[in-house]
Amino acid sequence: MSDTTYDLIIENGTVIDGTGAARIKADVGISGDRIVSVGDLSTASASARIDAVGKIVAPGFIDVHTHDDHALLSKPDMTYKASQGVATVVAGNCGISLAPLQFTGDRPPPPLDLLGDGYRFPKMADLFDALDETPPALNAALLCGHTTLRVGAMSELDRGATDDEIEAMRQDLAEALEAGAIGMSTGLFYPPANAAPTTEVIKLAELLGPAGALYTTHLRDEGAHLEESLEEAFEIGRASGAKVVLSHHKSAGASNFGGTKNSLALIDRVRKQQDITLDVYPYHAASTVLSADRVTESSRVIVTWSEARPDVAGRDLDDIAKEMGCSPQEAAAALLPAGGIYFMMDEADVQRVLQYPHAMVASDGLPHDVFPHPRLWGTFPRVLGHYSRELGLLTLEDAVHRMSGLPAAEFGLTGRGEIAAGNFADIVIFDADTVIDRADFAHPTEAAAGIEMVFVNGKPVWRNGSATGERPGKALRRQALQADAG
Ligand code: ZN
Ligand code: CU
Repeated sequence: MSDTTYDLIIENGTVIDGTGAARIKADVGISGDRIVSVGDLSTASASARIDAVGKIVAPGFIDVHTHDDHALLSKPDMTYKASQGVATVVAGNCGISLAPLQFTGDRPPPPLDLLGDGYRFPKMADLFDALDETPPALNAALLCGHTTLRVGAMSELDRGATDDEIEAMRQDLAEALEAGAIGMSTGLFYPPANAAPTTEVIKLAELLGPAGALYTTHLRDEGAHLEESLEEAFEIGRASGAKVVLSHHKSAGASNFGGTKNSLALIDRVRKQQDITLDVYPYHAASTVLSADRVTESSRVIVTWSEARPDVAGRDLDDIAKEMGCSPQEAAAALLPAGGIYFMMDEADVQRVLQYPHAMVASDGLPHDVFPHPRLWGTFPRVLGHYSRELGLLTLEDAVHRMSGLPAAEFGLTGRGEIAAGNFADIVIFDADTVIDRADFAHPTEAAAGIEMVFVNGKPVWRNGSATGERPGKALRRQALQADAG
């Protein structure tokens, strides 16, 4: 018994705390933006009470692989994420960040156009300021993209950077880290960043280790040269002293099915010498910009958007090609700039990576696509409902851990990711029996079932199947996170 009066008590629920520990029956007492206590609060007084009997009370999920930079400002309710139980996103992945972006012309070059247009943030501090001034519903941490740095510093992008250009990029990166970015991302697979040699990336990544910042990477090749690409990422990690985050780990292309057996064994070996972690989305189809090369490796391609032919969004490329009387590769070229969903993974690889104990669940959703990959709306409930409950691939406690406690620890998101006294009140209440993704490849923007309520910093952002309109999200700066970690 205590004299505290809580702002809110979530009572009678089953708490899965995000550490991976077994569920317990407990009440959660919240005051302001913090969890104050976890236990039997039946005699405590509170301004409001929520009965969570029969429901799971878990930490609000953390989506460490997103392209939400622009959406945090342009779609601040973040419905597609809040509806999944997400409380925090990490933006700026795959080399593509909205800041510090310096370009001339109307439209940033691809793949930066994946982020949507309409904002210009020449400095990372400008984007942090914008998030402070007009906060979104969810918390956000930001990465500085290597491709974004190149666009600002290089006169031509289809070659390695000169020493002067590298120096300019180092200054922009230093400024971004100073402003609060938690690391740098690369997308070495994508043109034009694929023209960057390893040495260029190392010279930038050297700034990360001393700052305690991360190196996240969309590998140069996730197909036939997956292992060489992993070695490159490990080398960059060793040279920079930074933790390496392998983005959306997979083995791509029909001829490489089964490749994650070797890649995970390699990662496991190297993890004994250096800090490596990875994220995965729970689907056997990928999604990114449309390219003829990728079409060749895929059993099916769905067009997600097309500047040249907006009317074909949502249709199969094979059907469009038949109509146009050409090959799918030629059709793809005619639709550019455009995006696609590529069926080019083996479900067994997806499940193998999901079961890897150090794999975090993350969406890689693309919020500006006209007809998006369903991972944008479905990732987290799909792991909870399909992979945990229906397939029994991992326990519910483990599944929750991979989307809360684990990403908070790996990304240094201090005070989040676990239900514990003193932590921020980022909380999801869901029904373990009914939680499931409803977005699929035919209906990609359906909200999940079973996510009852989501709180961010103590405020409800999702309730009764819709966004509340509250915007309690915080921009999470690296220095503040590190200071809180002590
Ligand atoms: Zn990527
Ligand atoms: Cu990505």
